[in-house]
Amino acid sequence: METKNKTWFGSHSHTGIVIGVAAILAIIYINVLPDEKLFPSILTGLIVSHALIFLITVFGGWMLLPEKTLKKFRKQTAPESFDFGWSSKWNKGFGVASFIVVLLAFYSYFSLAGNPALQIILFTFLLLLAVNLFLGNIIARDSNSTTNIILPYVGLYKAGKNNVIDVGCGAGRTTISLSKTSSDINIVAFDRFDANYIDDGGKTLLRRNLDLAGISSRVKIEQGDITSMPFAENTFDAAVSSYMFDHLGENKLPGLKEMWRLLKPGGRFLLIIVVRGYASFALANILSLAFATRSDWKKLFRAGGFDLVDEGTINFGAYFLIEKPLK
Ligand SMILES: C[S@@+](CC[C@H](N)C(=O)[O-])C[C@H]1O[C@@H](n2cnc3c(N)ncnc32)[C@H](O)[C@@H]1O
Repeated sequence: METKNKTWFGSHSHTGIVIGVAAILAIIYINVLPDEKLFPSILTGLIVSHALIFLITVFGGWMLLPEKTLKKFRKQTAPESFDFGWSSKWNKGFGVASFIVVLLAFYSYFSLAGNPALQIILFTFLLLLAVNLFLGNIIARDSNSTTNIILPYVGLYKAGKNNVIDVGCGAGRTTISLSKTSSDINIVAFDRFDANYIDDGGKTLLRRNLDLAGISSRVKIEQGDITSMPFAENTFDAAVSSYMFDHLGENKLPGLKEMWRLLKPGGRFLLIIVVRGYASFALANILSLAFATRSDWKKLFRAGGFDLVDEGTINFGAYFLIEKPLK
């Protein structure tokens, strides 16, 4: 017997039918029997709950889809624009989640009409959560996939500027900015190139972006792990790293010690990282309490043998300029 292949939307079409029929009935009730309150509110509940379940299912499915599949639906980047490969889950996820939580807030408000205390508590909590997610959305969108990063104006080149490394370069957002700090620096762009939140781990896009920026001849791409890098000690005059050291977990200190080994005495290292604070609260809510604070980082720098030269705030993150002492 022939079986019909149902599409995902086909097998969930009851959602659309329930919403449509309930909406028509609600309009009829409201117009024909304006004093009748019970049925229109039941119908409204049906409409909102089905719309919510639909949205949550679509959102959940979208978050679970492999990045490769999602990419097929993404708008192609113009050939003359950079593409740093940021996942649309990251760029848009907070905004979509915020919208769903607003709907959930209003749904809970109307469905808990019989329990005013719980109604207000839940409504307020969900609205605050939606605002929190919306702020997270503003921050996440700041890492636009076609815009390179802004570096703070600091004295990076105390030990010279022949050999500079971008550690955890990803698809080159920082490498390109770094190349603009001086026309005569040679850059090593270093990464593991296995991050699942950057298309293809970043290596293919990195090559493309460096070509577009016209700096391929000045940048050498190297692959490896920060904790044991394939360079001799005292190789680099300076180093930068953006949003990488905060991904290292237990390897923060080993990573710093490795950077100390590779830098020349007097060599400076500029780090941009997310620290515990308002911005990280917008991104991770209470989970942000697990983020290291500015003073945690300063202790780590000291433990790694570095002196702190400068610090500040940039791109919703913190920056630190640290130096390997001359002696
Ligand atoms: C959030 S991305 C930042 C990329 C780039 N610096 C930027 O700002 O666009 C973090 C990068 O660090 C790299 N990374 C994470 N852990 C690493 C490790 N142990 N060794 C080398 N690279 C690592 C990842 O592969 C990823 O490309």
